[in-house]
Amino acid sequence: MAFEGKVAVITGAASGIGRGLAERGHALGLKLVLADRDAAAAEALAASLEGAIAVPTDVADPAALAALADAAWAAFGGVDYLFNNAGIMATGYSWEIDPARWDASIDVNLKGILHGIRAFVPRMIDQGRGHIVNTASVGGFGASPLMAPYSVTKFAAVALTESLHAELAMLGAPVRVSLLAPGPVKTAIFENPFGGAVNPATQRFVDELRHMLDSYGLEPGPFADKVYEAIAAGEFWIVPQPEALDPMLKARTETILARRTPEFSWNGGEPADA
Ligand SMILES: NC(=O)c1ccc[n+]([C@@H]2O[C@H](COP(=O)([O-])OP(=O)(O)OC[C@H]3O[C@@H](n4cnc5c(N)ncnc54)[C@H](O)[C@@H]3O)[C@@H](O)[C@H]2O)c1
Repeated sequence: MAFEGKVAVITGAASGIGRGLAERGHALGLKLVLADRDAAAAEALAASLEGAIAVPTDVADPAALAALADAAWAAFGGVDYLFNNAGIMATGYSWEIDPARWDASIDVNLKGILHGIRAFVPRMIDQGRGHIVNTASVGGFGASPLMAPYSVTKFAAVALTESLHAELAMLGAPVRVSLLAPGPVKTAIFENPFGGAVNPATQRFVDELRHMLDSYGLEPGPFADKVYEAIAAGEFWIVPQPEALDPMLKARTETILARRTPEFSWNGGEPADA
């Protein structure tokens, strides 16, 4: 049993993918530290998973990640896995999205991961073991219109994860790294996605994304099972839905290598206000 008795810290644990990782991780025997800015939801989840603790955490705050590491080491004496999972969506034309929503996207989706790395990696090196799993998205490998803050921060999350991996390999450090790139998963991420004036194109785009989640998104539980299988197999690139990544990545790579201008095609026609 690869996970029995090991300790996992999960940010954004109270909903969606984080919750799936918590519930399936508990079934695999992990001891859990559930971190979320929604303290009540994290507490409620911890109460349902025997032995789990909840630590209210805003990943945008570096001090909160340091306090999270303190709490995890105090409770369990070590940490085997850190899932830097918390993330938010922002939609709209890049020039219309509120600067505060741009900042929040960078603070949560990118700097939240960075703060986690800064708080946990030195301690993992000291304890001689550990595994950091950073959540980007298939959207971290191909930029999308109408969600630029998400594309920008998910590309950055991929780059940060690759840099971290190279640094730890360079040092021969006993800490592993993985990049998790989900495709569509049925979660609450589109409940409040708008970051600017809502126009017909943005509304249609969000409706299409929600439809995509509803029609072929995975449920968080089965998605989490695939993540744990990939971790147990030692994978750096954790891509539970390759059908959502590979054709897009191949087309993008070929476009760049051929120095072709990227083309845009709206699935099924033109946006209403284009
Ligand atoms: N659902 C998908 O289709 C999908 C696809 C690709 C990538 N992802 C990524 O998966 C991760 C999880 O997303 P999800 O779909 O489960 O979303 P979700 O909205 O269901 O859950 C996100 C959780 O993160 C928490 N959170 C948000 N900001 C936080 C902060 N500042 N500090 C602490 N916690 C915070 C929320 O309270 C919530 O519990 C995100 O990084 C997201 O970008 C999701």
